[in-house]
Amino acid sequence: MAQESALLNVMTGAARKAARGLVRDFGEVENLQVSRKGPADFVSAADHKAERIVCAELRKARPRYGILSEESGLTEGADTSNRWIVDPLDGTTNFLHGLAHFAISIGLERDAELIAGVIYAPVLDQLFVAEKGQGARLNGNRLRVSARKQMGDALFATGIPFMGVGDHERVLQEVGAVMAVSAGVRRFGTASLDLAYVAAGRFEGFWETGLYPWDMAAGIVLVREAGGYVSEIGGGTEMMKNRNILAANDSLHQPLGRILRSVATQKPQ
Ligand code: IPD
Ligand code: CA
Ligand code: CA
Repeated sequence: MAQESALLNVMTGAARKAARGLVRDFGEVENLQVSRKGPADFVSAADHKAERIVCAELRKARPRYGILSEESGLTEGADTSNRWIVDPLDGTTNFLHGLAHFAISIGLERDAELIAGVIYAPVLDQLFVAEKGQGARLNGNRLRVSARKQMGDALFATGIPFMGVGDHERVLQEVGAVMAVSAGVRRFGTASLDLAYVAAGRFEGFWETGLYPWDMAAGIVLVREAGGYVSEIGGGTEMMKNRNILAANDSLHQPLGRILRSVATQKPQ
């Protein structure tokens, strides 16, 4: 098993510490105090607690770094080169419905470049880590994107918006176009894990519109370090700014992008 760097140690330590509370709260999911942030956009007490723990651990280890986290927004650090990007509970809807597919996601951006990512799915005890130039690993084992080259063999993941959010018609067209030529489309409900699963070769690709930086920062590093490609759906490279992503193995990134872009072109104005 490869030796973890000091940086990844900090990140995995923070994720594992917050995970203990999340797992306990997941066991008592029906008793949680839940508040509504917007239609179907739940934020649980567990979510806030996990964020406090992750941020406190990161601050303890790197007091000068900034933090962008889902619930607290941006806290600038004295060191403006380094910024953690944190989703303390990705897959909140799954969590609240008693589905174990959720994760803590921590990315690190240095000089505007994503350089490290940790995604931890605590119930499944799956720890995905990646650091620029050092590869990606799952529970210590090296990851590589899938080798499937044919759309007809490929399994893809996406995110489907919900009441009051996103362009439902376009998403349905995208899913229709991809399902017609692939082995299937999955919607598991945790974008960070969708990206981690692309890195692990479980999905050949993933796309979603309307994501935030904390949904994708760590996953972008994982996919790249596992040999995959990440871009905007339109091909650009400002995924976090433009809030959409297309990640896939080296063979299928372009074909998947072409299909998704053809749907966008067909859309009546
Ligand atoms: C959500 C999940 C979901 C994605 C949504 C995200 P949250 O994050 O990643 O898979 O489809 O767009 O908002 O709210 O559970 O942290
Ligand atoms: Ca999220
Ligand atoms: Ca979240």
